Amino acid sequence: MAQNPFIVQRPIKYGEPFCDRRPEMQQLEQAANRSEAVCILSIRRFGKTSLVNQVIGRLEEAGWLSIRLDLSRCFSLRSMTREFEKALFSLEGKWRRLLEGLKSVSRIRPQLGIDPLTSQPSIGFDFSRPVDEMEQLKYILEKIVSLPERAESGIRLCLVLDEFQNIRKIDPKRDLEWLFRSVFQERGRFFVPFLLGSERHLLNMMIRDESSAFFKSVTPMTLEVLPEGEVVSFVKNHFKSGLGLDVPEGRIKGIYRIFGGHPFAINWYWAEIWDLQERSGKPEPTETWVEVAIKIILNQRDYYEAMNSRLPIGARKVLFAIAANEPVKKVYSRKFMVETLGMAQGSLQSAIKVLFEEDKIRKTPRGLVINDPLERLSIAVSELDEEAIAAFVRERIDIGK
Ligand SMILES: Nc1ncnc2c1ncn2[C@@H]1O[C@H](COP(=O)(O)OP(=O)(O)O)[C@@H](O)[C@H]1O
Ligand SMILES: [Mg+2]
Repeated sequence: MAQNPFIVQRPIKYGEPFCDRRPEMQQLEQAANRSEAVCILSIRRFGKTSLVNQVIGRLEEAGWLSIRLDLSRCFSLRSMTREFEKALFSLEGKWRRLLEGLKSVSRIRPQLGIDPLTSQPSIGFDFSRPVDEMEQLKYILEKIVSLPERAESGIRLCLVLDEFQNIRKIDPKRDLEWLFRSVFQERGRFFVPFLLGSERHLLNMMIRDESSAFFKSVTPMTLEVLPEGEVVSFVKNHFKSGLGLDVPEGRIKGIYRIFGGHPFAINWYWAEIWDLQERSGKPEPTETWVEVAIKIILNQRDYYEAMNSRLPIGARKVLFAIAANEPVKKVYSRKFMVETLGMAQGSLQSAIKVLFEEDKIRKTPRGLVINDPLERLSIAVSELDEEAIAAFVRERIDIGK
């Protein structure tokens, strides 16, 4: 039997079934080859890490090296410096192995002997190392960024920093941001940084504000939901080739639309259906398809409710009102502010501010909308009991049948 191709609970690795994001992959590969820094922004669980895994996999096949760091695990300058230090150690090891590999297969001999990597003491015992934490980080970062140049081997290096916006939290004064910027500015053509993050509001301040460190020094790239057509063929082809099952297109579209194209929820849905289908060996009745959707919807409703319980009550009220009326073109109009919400302008302003800061809403040319499609769904079903949710799903599960 074929393995379940719908990977859940962790990012998709290179070589595993991945629903195409061809334009994004191409853009990132080109950026890498031009040494153009990119910042990839998206809602959590939209597939940033999975996408970068695919791109890095391809780059590594073309001879690149990569290092990745998840900055969400760093809570202080010190712990971050340690992480970079560990990364540099493992990178130097990889680099040496790669060079030795090249030496054994290539007639062009990279000069390991004069390589500063081997002629310099390893960083842990380096007495010239600065004591100030900030200076230390700079020193290690510079070593990483300049490695391809120092090693003169033609090998390229991609540095992936996940949850990059955390450096603003570690250092609200922004010195860290300027430090990263200045080190990245000194990079040669064999080094590229990819910065990933899920906190749109923070990241936008870091890269789009004219006074920010990364303004015009990184290219922003926003990851949207998966395209419907790609999801339809991804699901259809896998069920056909793996289980010999024809899933009607209308059903795949119905599920796609219920979850608003959210990659995490969609992949989870089809992973569950796959397991059930594999076990039963015959097409499951529609009821099963509905039940799986309900399970995911209820689970996510709990998740968003728990998250939103931290929001001030006014902000929650405005969030729900925006969801019910989106796109909201004129928030401060009499109709929305007074008739719909019954709120004073001051309280509405502070609620809107919180909602932006928490990435709950976003501005579009059509007006304000809910940022996360799964959150939109959770709000839409917030008052419904299980039976009503079942009706909600049934109504949408088959499109154009
Ligand atoms: N292109 C894709 N094809 C199929 N599933 C995807 C895709 N992108 C994301 N997913 C699903 O979403 C989940 C979350 O992806 P991940 O890369 O961890 O997101 P992020 O890094 O943005 O939080 C994955 O476990 C997978 O189930
Ligand atoms: Mg991730």
